[in-house]
This record gives sequence, structure tokens and C-alpha cells, in this order.
Amino acid sequence: MNRGVPPDDATIVYYDAEYPSLEDGDVRADDVARLARQSVLGDIAFYKEAAVRAAPPGSGRVVADVGCGTGRLALPLARLGLEVFAVDVSPAMLDRLRAKLAAEPEAVRARVRVVCQDAASLDLPRRDIAFAALPFNVLMLIAGLDDQRRTLAALARHMAPGGVLALDLMNPLILPLDAQPTPAVSQPCRDPRSGNSYVRHSMHGRLDADQRQRVYGVYEEMTADGGVRITDYAFHWRMVFRWEAELMLNEAGFTVDRVAGDFEDTDWDVDSRRIVVTARRRPDGGDAADRPAGQPNQPSTRSK
Ligand SMILES: C[S@@+](CC[C@H](N)C(=O)[O-])C[C@H]1O[C@@H](n2cnc3c(N)ncnc32)[C@H](O)[C@@H]1O
Repeated sequence: MNRGVPPDDATIVYYDAEYPSLEDGDVRADDVARLARQSVLGDIAFYKEAAVRAAPPGSGRVVADVGCGTGRLALPLARLGLEVFAVDVSPAMLDRLRAKLAAEPEAVRARVRVVCQDAASLDLPRRDIAFAALPFNVLMLIAGLDDQRRTLAALARHMAPGGVLALDLMNPLILPLDAQPTPAVSQPCRDPRSGNSYVRHSMHGRLDADQRQRVYGVYEEMTADGGVRITDYAFHWRMVFRWEAELMLNEAGFTVDRVAGDFEDTDWDVDSRRIVVTARRRPDGGDAADRPAGQPNQPSTRSK
């Protein structure tokens, strides 16, 4: 979902049912299947490993989960002993994170600083962040080229030289770019909070000249009294292609270390499900965003 999405938008209401955390115990087979269909089964393990390498617990280094949503990553990082800035632009998503935090031990709660900010104008009290993540399509959901560039530049300004930035995106080369006005119906899913079953009817518009696509639809939930509750949703995403991601990161002051096609570290290819990038802030990186346009460094020419 984008900046300004209302709290009763279905993408917020059903977020935790759609993208369950496997870290909270009670792992169910259909949750695993759901995450596998999105190709994000291994995402939390990937980010945790990268975060701990860049900011070992007890080192005093801090990390940032930007576009943290309801805390699918921020909570596991804090449980590992990391000091986390959990940043999101949606007050409703952050309310859900706060509710989950309330059930955590005091030591975990104390390690998470919840910040409601737009990533494109990020302003945190630390400029030495050792690890930052934009997990699960966050850069795409900052749905304009200028805001995407501003987000990466803002992260560079907040990070220590050598600090690690990890992010993952859908691979636009395997996405349908034409309009699909006929709803595609998802498999039935159970909302663990209500116990009700629901399906999603999803549609999308055509990719526009700014590489933006409108994604929209409705959720149909079967309520306990035999009724049907309908909740709609709509958002835009801006597709970012693999080489474009590298150029943008370079422009913002990062050196790209690795572009994989999934969370198992398979080399990226044209038909990879995802674009999983690990980059490091260059020593001059914090100022790179202030450089006049047209002076980016070379993107990486290697996959591994
Ligand atoms: C697909 S969700 C991912 C949430 C979380 N990272 C996860 O893995 O479950 C995208 C998140 O990005 C947030 N977001 C979108 N635009 C943003 C912006 N400009 N600044 C900060 N967060 C933003 C949304 O509110 C949403 O919580």
C-alpha cells in the first residue's frame, strides 16, 4: 500500500493474514504455501542474517527496517538483540506493530523505536545506521521515480560508511504489464484473527509511461452469521527493473555487492521471481545524492 492509504483499506485489514510471520510459532502449512507463492518464504531469514553480520548484537550498532509494516522483520530483529528503527508511513500498520510489541518481553520492546515517517523524507536521530532494509517490495510501493530516488538518498545520508542496505523487489520482467480488468480469484484463506475465510479478487491496470501500475480489487469475507463482508483496496506500484535498481543505488551512494533472483541466493536471471539486492554505502555515499545529476558511478557488471 502507498502513502495515504486509509486504515480500512483491505491491504491493511488483511495484511497479517496474507503475509503471515513464520517466526511467531504456530506455523501452518497454508501460511508456508502462501509465502512460497509470493516467493518470500526465506525473506526473514535472509534479512536477519545480513543484519546480524552488519550489526552484531551487543556491538552498539543500530539497524533500520524501512516500510516495516506490522513488524514481520522488525520484531525478529529485535528478538535477536538488535536496536531497530521501525519506520513506516502508515499509522494503521504501525498501530498493529505496536499491538504486537505490547506482547513482547520488556527487553524486546525497549529495542524497537517505532517511527511514522515517509521514507522519501526520512529524518532519524542517527547517522550511523549499520544495516537498513527495504523488505518486500517497499521501494516499488513508494510509487514514483523521484520518491524512490529520494528514499535511497535519504538512506545513504543515515548510514555509516560501509553500512549494508538490503532490499527486494518483484522482477518486472515476469509481471503482466497489460491491464487485467477481469478479477483473478485467490485461493480461500482463513483470517486468524476472526477465524473467517476470505478470497481476494484482484485486477490491475496497464503499466503507464512512468512504469506505474494500479493494482486494485476486493476481499470477500464469509462472516460467522452467513453474510459476506466486502472490503476494497487499491494502490499503485512503480516497477523497478534490475539494472535500474543498480543505477539508482549507485546514484544514491551505494556499491552493489550482490543481485540474486531469490532468497536462496540463486543468480538473478531474466525470469527470476525476485530482485534481491545487497549494497554497501560508499565512503562518499552520504553526499552522493547532492551531486548534480549525470555523475553516477558505474553499476556493477557482475551478478555474484
Ligand atoms: C508490502 S508492505 C511490506 C511491509 C513489511 N516490510 C513486510 O515485509 O511485511 C509495504 C510497506 O511499505 C510502507 N510504505 C509505502 N510507502 C512508504 C513510504 N513512502 N514511506 C515509508 N513506508 C512506506 C507501507 O505502508 C507498507 O507497510
